[in-house]
Amino acid sequence: MFENRAIVVTGAASGIGKQTAIDFARQGGMVAVADIDEKNGTDVVAKLKSDGRDAIFVKTDLTVEADCENLLAITTTTFGRIDVLVNNAGIEISTPIHEMSVDEWDRLVDTNLKSMFLCSKYALREMMKATSGVIINLCSVGGLVAWPGIAAYNATKGGVMMLTKSLAVDYAKYNIRANCVCPSIIDTPMTDASIGHDAAVKEQKAKLNPVGRLGTPEDVANAILFLASDASSFITGAALTVDGGYTAL
Ligand SMILES: NC(=O)c1ccc[n+]([C@@H]2O[C@H](COP(=O)([O-])OP(=O)(O)OC[C@H]3O[C@@H](n4cnc5c(N)ncnc54)[C@H](O)[C@@H]3O)[C@@H](O)[C@H]2O)c1
Repeated sequence: MFENRAIVVTGAASGIGKQTAIDFARQGGMVAVADIDEKNGTDVVAKLKSDGRDAIFVKTDLTVEADCENLLAITTTTFGRIDVLVNNAGIEISTPIHEMSVDEWDRLVDTNLKSMFLCSKYALREMMKATSGVIINLCSVGGLVAWPGIAAYNATKGGVMMLTKSLAVDYAKYNIRANCVCPSIIDTPMTDASIGHDAAVKEQKAKLNPVGRLGTPEDVANAILFLASDASSFITGAALTVDGGYTAL
């Protein structure tokens, strides 16, 4: 479905981003895997190449403007275009607001929100020239409702939501769409770092979702690929929940 399309996925060395990069490549896409984690990022690309897929790794600290500019420039030079940008990378810090340092706040905002501004800035320049493109941002149910105990993270995701809607409105005239996905708890390394590996705790968290299970990276990647495809050509400015019904309660 994505033959000859160039796709950038940030934070693609792990979790949701990794699965998304794999799924795009399996469907014929030319994928730029961007991450600060060189070891796991190059492993993802090596595996894709050994399966005959087209992929490159670009080491990127997404909080640094020059790195983001470089990522989009290398992708354009290598693949000749940028069709899809998936702003996926993010971190979670659960320090309560009354104890949070300015450094922690800045790290969250820079990684979860500034990175999406920076990658969008340089991707948009190519997409505007082509009068075509799709941007998909990783939001969260925390961008829709206040997930308890992670106020600063929720605040960044609220920003992601409004960035997405604003991109959709401002760039529709260039035939560029922007949407975001809002997962509840997904079984990834980020979740392991936050709630641990204890099966009983995971089961308890799974019960928060009406469907009774945690989400998988595949669940989220499926939604991202749909939003990147022509099947969603009339959808822009949307926030697609991938939450097992969590926000329907
Ligand atoms: N896992 C969940 O339950 C969940 C729920 C809702 C939303 N999300 C969102 O989905 C996205 C992906 O989450 P995940 O669970 O796959 O996380 P993950 O921790 O498994 O992967 C995140 C990746 O981002 C990379 N990264 C972090 N900071 C970076 C930086 N400055 N520069 C470059 N790369 C950087 C990491 O190296 C890692 O490879 C995030 O935006 C997260 O907020 C996750």
